[in-house]
Amino acid sequence: MISVRKLEASDHQLLKTWADTITATAFMNWTSEQVMQSLIDYEVWGLIQDGHCQAALCVRPVDQDFEILWVQTRPDFQKLGFASQLMGAWLDFASQHDCRVFLEVHEKNLEAQGLYHKFKFEKLGIRKNYYKDGSSAISYQLDLTNVKRPS
Ligand SMILES: CC(C)(COP(=O)(O)OP(=O)(O)OC[C@H]1O[C@@H](n2cnc3c(N)ncnc32)[C@H](O)[C@@H]1OP(=O)(O)O)[C@@H](O)C(=O)NCCC(=O)NCCS
Repeated sequence: MISVRKLEASDHQLLKTWADTITATAFMNWTSEQVMQSLIDYEVWGLIQDGHCQAALCVRPVDQDFEILWVQTRPDFQKLGFASQLMGAWLDFASQHDCRVFLEVHEKNLEAQGLYHKFKFEKLGIRKNYYKDGSSAISYQLDLTNVKRPS
């Protein structure tokens, strides 16, 4: 059984088990420790399958908007649709709040860009030398203000 929900402090071990499966890369340069700190500093949403976290997404509320700080599926469970389910469920939640969603993604991270395009994020621009290695980031926005909801 699969569910998507916001993780709480009591989900520390659930997230830790997931975070220990990932390694920081040029595309997602958050260490396991920083991921765990996200549970305290930001909002973390998890896709839970049969009691195991398979994918997680971290957002920072900024006024009434949100910034997606990271999203990741555990390496051995990628390309199975988990990030899509997680993102779709979180966007359903976010769309209740008349908000805009922002994010930056590494220019060479085509997997993540594919995910964002799938959910109709629009390119805002390029941030040159955004990463330590001199690579650029692409900024994206999804405007969820005035989203029509079932009455
Ligand atoms: C990006 C990421 C989260 C996608 O997770 P996932 O669970 O594999 O994603 P899904 O299976 O739901 O696929 C969603 C979409 O991503 C894109 N995608 C996923 N894997 C891809 C690949 N290998 N090549 C190209 N596009 C890919 C596709 O557009 C896909 O949609 P489609 O299957 O309908 O074509 C995953 O690749 C990941 O964890 N990457 C490392 C962390 C990272 O770079 N995060 C983003 C920056 S913080």
